[in-house]
Amino acid sequence: MGESLNPLPASFADFRRGAERRLPRFLFDYYDGGAGAEVTLRSNTADWEAVRLGQKVLVDVSNMDCGTELFGEKLAMPLVLAPIGMGGMSARRGEVQAKRAADKAGIPFCLSTVGICTMEELGATGDKPFWFQLYMLKDRGIVQEILERAWAAGVRTLAFTIDLAVLGTRYRDIRNGMAGGLGRWGNFRSGALDYALHPGWAIDVGLKGGPHGFGNLSRYVKQSKNPRDYLHWTGSQFDPSVTWKDIEWLRTVWQGNLVLKGILDVEDAKQAVAIGADGMIVSNHGGRQLDGAASTATMLPRIADAVGSETTLLVDGGIRSGQDLVKALALGAKAALIGRPWVMALAAGGGAALTRMLGLYKQDMRTALGLTGAVNARDVGRGVLLGE
Ligand SMILES: Cc1cc2nc3c(=O)[nH]c(=O)nc-3n(C[C@H](O)[C@H](O)[C@H](O)COP(=O)(O)O)c2cc1C
Repeated sequence: MGESLNPLPASFADFRRGAERRLPRFLFDYYDGGAGAEVTLRSNTADWEAVRLGQKVLVDVSNMDCGTELFGEKLAMPLVLAPIGMGGMSARRGEVQAKRAADKAGIPFCLSTVGICTMEELGATGDKPFWFQLYMLKDRGIVQEILERAWAAGVRTLAFTIDLAVLGTRYRDIRNGMAGGLGRWGNFRSGALDYALHPGWAIDVGLKGGPHGFGNLSRYVKQSKNPRDYLHWTGSQFDPSVTWKDIEWLRTVWQGNLVLKGILDVEDAKQAVAIGADGMIVSNHGGRQLDGAASTATMLPRIADAVGSETTLLVDGGIRSGQDLVKALALGAKAALIGRPWVMALAAGGGAALTRMLGLYKQDMRTALGLTGAVNARDVGRGVLLGE
C-alpha cells in the first residue's frame, strides 16, 4: 500500500498524483500519455465534462439501482476495467489485484493480450469470470491456442481490438526511450536514477513482483530473457493485414461473446453489426493511436443513432467519474470501460485504493441517478441530459 493515500484520494486527479509519486517516470508517462500532441487524449475527458446533466427533483429515489446486465452477466454497476498492456507493472502482480477489486465491486476485469499476469493466474483468482482482450497475431495457430486457453480459464467475453493496425506515435515514450524498446525497464543501468527515486515501486514491483514478461505469450517467445525480447516478438507477430474477413474467421473459432474494440465510425459500426459481433466498444484507444481523431463522447451518440437498437454498445476514453458514466449511458452506451483510472489507483495504493476508487464511481453514479430523477441505471436515456 503506497503511503500516498494520505490525504485520502477523492477524484481521478488524486489517484493520478499518487501514481505519479510512486511510479518511475517512464512507467507513469507510459500509462498517462497519449499519441502526438495528445489532442484526442485531452478531448476525451473535456468532451464528457462538457455534457450537461439536467437536474430533476422531488422524485422518489429511495430505491435506486446502479446494476445492469451485460452479455448474460449481472453487474453491480455498468463499468468494466479496460485491458491495459503491462497494466500489471503498476503494482505487484497488478492484474491479479485488479481482478480481486473488480470482483469485489461486482464488475468485470478485462485482461490484455500483453498483460503481465497470465490468464491462468487470473482464472485461479476468485470465482468470477473475467474478459480477455485479443490482438491478432500472424500465427493463427497461436491465436487459436490462446483462445482455447482463455475459454479454459473461464473467459466468455472476448474484446477483439481493431484499432492497432499501426502503432500510435507517443511522444512521451519516445522521449523516455520506450518506443521500440522498453527503455529504462529493459535497461536497468540507464534507469537506475529513476528507480532510486521511486524505491517503493522498485523493490515491491521491480525486484519482488516478477516475472515481468507478457505472461500470456511467454510460452511462445523462445528468447524471453527480458522485456525487450517480448517487444521484439510482439512487434514481429502483430498483424497489420487484419480486415473484416479475419473477424469472420474469429467468429468461427470463438464460441463466446465477441466484442469489437476500437469502433469510431458509423459505417464501421454498421459493418460490425452485419458481421455478427455481439457488441462493440466505441473507443479511440484512450487517445493513444490517431491523434486528432474524434473524442468518444462525440462519436457515441452518432453510432448509437445508427446501430444502438441492434447491438450492445460500450464506450471508453476519458470516463473519470460516476457522473461521466451516467452521461455515457445517456448518450447510448450500456456500460463504459475505464483504463487509466484503474492503473493509477492500483499504482497509488494497490487493490485497496482501487476498491476505494470503484466505490467513489458508484457513489457519484448514485448522486447523478438520484438528482436527474433517473433512479435506475437501466432507464437512463437522453432525457437526463440538459435541454432534451
Ligand atoms: C497504458 C495503456 C495501455 C493500453 N493497452 C491496451 C491493450 O493492451 N489492449 C487494448 O485493447 N487497449 C489498450 N489500451 C486502451 C484501453 O483499453 C482503453 O481503451 C483506454 O485506456 C480507455 O481510455 P481511458 O484510459 O481514458 O479510460 C491501453 C491504454 C493505456 C492507457
